[in-house]
Amino acid sequence: MGRPLQLLMLALMLSTAHAAEQSIEVLHWWTAGGEAKAANLLKQRWQAQGNRWVDAAIDGGGGGSAMLVLRSRTLAGNPPQAAHLKGAELHAWARLGFLRPVSDVARRGQWDMRLYPFVSSTLNHQGQMMAVPIGIHRVNWLWINQPIFDRLKLEPPRSWPELLAVARRLKAAGITPLAMGDDPWQLAILFESIALGEGGSDFYRRAFVNLEPDALTGPRMQQVLLRFHSLRPFLPANHVGLKWNQATQMLIEGQAAMQLMGDWTKGELIAAGEIPGQRIRCLPAPGTTGRFSYNLDSLALFRQTNDASDQAQQRFAELLMTPEFQRDFNRVKGSIPVLAEMDLAGFDPCARLAGQALQRAERDGSLVPSVAEGMATPPRVQQALQEVLANYFSDADADAATTAARLAQTIKAVQSEWQPGVE
Ligand code: BGC
Repeated sequence: MGRPLQLLMLALMLSTAHAAEQSIEVLHWWTAGGEAKAANLLKQRWQAQGNRWVDAAIDGGGGGSAMLVLRSRTLAGNPPQAAHLKGAELHAWARLGFLRPVSDVARRGQWDMRLYPFVSSTLNHQGQMMAVPIGIHRVNWLWINQPIFDRLKLEPPRSWPELLAVARRLKAAGITPLAMGDDPWQLAILFESIALGEGGSDFYRRAFVNLEPDALTGPRMQQVLLRFHSLRPFLPANHVGLKWNQATQMLIEGQAAMQLMGDWTKGELIAAGEIPGQRIRCLPAPGTTGRFSYNLDSLALFRQTNDASDQAQQRFAELLMTPEFQRDFNRVKGSIPVLAEMDLAGFDPCARLAGQALQRAERDGSLVPSVAEGMATPPRVQQALQEVLANYFSDADADAATTAARLAQTIKAVQSEWQPGVE
């Protein structure tokens, strides 16, 4: 082969390698209106750098179906290059050795100096940074339709007894008080918000982070369970199978007056042309002012066998951590940036409130990981807890003391069965 031809072949090989290196497949469950817009923004920013995006969007709030697909694809030897993996689930994957740590990119970008400390520690697995943080969601929010409250001359509830009083008045006026479906994770958000509001952050941590049997079975937990159960009459008639974003639509359209949900709800509001904090207001879930239950969204990278693909992953991780991307993505998604240095001046009023609450909660020790969002316990413990709660909620005659005992027993059983690396 002559030298010019050799050079041409080499150039062709390099350009193919370059094209391959710029392709990223991302598995996620950002499929509701606002979420899809946020995912699309990420796709466009990546494509704007001359790269290719392969979308692996799996429908289903809470990510249950996405996690099943991820497991089967990985077992078949075909994981995506990146996936929305977070909290305890991320650590389970890290233990199995499938993930590419991002510590090298983090060191180059000095992430440790730029991230909120709890973000770094959440993603740290045995000294390695295991994923790229995307945004911080506050879970303990109550969303209310202010025009309904005005019409009925109702005050926004600041405590759980107030919320029940408001719910009774709404129901008497023929309006669904609380928009919510029956997914175990949606119910768990309601439950953990009551636990945080009525029990406080120390109780919350003892029960759901340390899993102390006394806290799981004691009188305080029984009160929280009773309160949770007492909300059954205030859900929509069609609550079985109602998705979280359909519940948000009910709130927007005035078919329901309140929703308890993390601030990904805001993505739906923004997509529907609302300015969060105006017609639809955001208030801390009753009793949780100054407390912050977090859900940290992150993208993990799966180990690649070829260098070009690994290079693409590094470029992708770098893009996710640029202040411009963090600003634009989180404004659409409803979360706040993970970079502590960022000013929230251009964000909506609810994001600014979330930022203030986060700083205050970090200072006061009132920052807690969301159980429902997989931040607090290993996935199997979370699943067991959610099942017990969902059964309790669906049974009109269920008893709080028995359920509290069941919570502790089930968690103990799952824990003794659990071994690192086999989740
Ligand atoms: C994710 C959010 C998502 C929400 C609803 C949560 O588990 O962390 O990013 O918007 O589920 O799909």
